[in-house]
Amino acid sequence: MTNSNYRLFKNFNHPSLIFEKEEVFEPSFIPECLLHRELELATLAQHFKPILNNNPKSVGTYVIIQGSVGLGKTTIVKQFGSTLEAYSREKRHENMSQIIFFHLNCRRQRSWSILFTTVLRQLVPAFPVRGFSAVELLTYIGSIMTERKQKLLLCLDEIDYLVAQAKGQDILYALIRNNEGNILESLSPLSLILITRSPHLHTYLDNALYSSLSKRMIVFHPYNTTQLYDIIRIRAEQGLINSSFSTEILKEIAIIAHSSGDARYALELLWRAAKVAEGEHSNEILFEHLRKAQVSSFPIKQSLITDLPLHQRVVLFAIASILKRQSDTMYALTAEVKRNYEQICQNNGLRPRKQTQFWVYLQELHKIGLIKLEVINRHNNGKSRGRTGKVSISDFPVKELLQLLHDILQEK
Ligand SMILES: Nc1ncnc2c1ncn2[C@@H]1O[C@H](COP(=O)(O)OP(=O)(O)OP(=O)(O)O)[C@@H](O)[C@H]1O
Ligand SMILES: [Mg+2]
Repeated sequence: MTNSNYRLFKNFNHPSLIFEKEEVFEPSFIPECLLHRELELATLAQHFKPILNNNPKSVGTYVIIQGSVGLGKTTIVKQFGSTLEAYSREKRHENMSQIIFFHLNCRRQRSWSILFTTVLRQLVPAFPVRGFSAVELLTYIGSIMTERKQKLLLCLDEIDYLVAQAKGQDILYALIRNNEGNILESLSPLSLILITRSPHLHTYLDNALYSSLSKRMIVFHPYNTTQLYDIIRIRAEQGLINSSFSTEILKEIAIIAHSSGDARYALELLWRAAKVAEGEHSNEILFEHLRKAQVSSFPIKQSLITDLPLHQRVVLFAIASILKRQSDTMYALTAEVKRNYEQICQNNGLRPRKQTQFWVYLQELHKIGLIKLEVINRHNNGKSRGRTGKVSISDFPVKELLQLLHDILQEK
């Protein structure tokens, strides 16, 4: 690389205008404060309270957690497991069992042998990597725990990867039957938390196994807009410079992420918008930065725009130009859009369509997902007084959209 290319890194040692502590947006970051999962945490505590009991006859237990992407399953269980471990350590002189917690991901460690070897190497660092069957390894883990008078809480995250194979189910069944008080005494110190995204476990699990698991299932539901807002607000306060973000930006991110209820997506969108703002040397995250951030996760379908009929393109242009002008709000009022549409028609020698047709255009743009439309029907003394509404474009940057539409309008 020549010296002239050094300019690429020119401002790299300048302090960021946006980030205070960017690492809080990294996937490995474990937040201290977990919001809106109090009930799930309390249910977990309820299930695992009995294992704190130091009675040598008490057997382990298990639960399964189900919920789609980004709902805090891993984070909550990790926090729960380490808190339980710390609590049991602190209280070990008060006739409580000492609990050791491990979190393992079955996507990375795809066989029982690999999983159990990983556990054993933590318990006995010199343990050989190969040479034992999964059942031997498991029995050995159980006997170590009994000997040490400790109990093991094992979290098997993304369990689907393991139990999708028929062989995988046998061991799980043995573990669960053990927990139900049946076989192998040596396994009694073992407890399990299984995590799955799949709501369809019954389609690939043996009936008996599924029936046992479903009795101890905790379902994590998607976060609603307010909950997502609270989660990203705390992270923004930790990771961003206070003056760089507004309540409105955070609210909008929460609204965008609400359809999936996915906290990871909401946090990633905030981080991406912050990166765009930083890259543009802005000291504040603006709606345009957010739109750009969305494109980097969902590219624009350009053909969707180029294939639009002429008047729908003009309406879209009218919306985009208002949004570009007013950087402090994410929405345009339909009445303003109509006025702007008529103006653009006049400037381009087009005859503007009437109110009813204008609303049809808005609804069609909404239907194909190019705009978001919120309709408010006005009433006075029970009589309809027509409708009004708000429109927004949240999926792509208005500047690029305007450029694209401008080129198409020139070609008309
Ligand atoms: N209640 C919460 N409070 C604060 N942060 C949260 C909360 N729930 C989730 N998060 C954050 O959202 C992101 C996703 O959470 P997590 O990885 O636990 O989701 P998951 O349900 O395990 O998703 P996946 O199924 O994709 O593994 C993490 O960055 C986590 O810190
Ligand atoms: Mg997870």
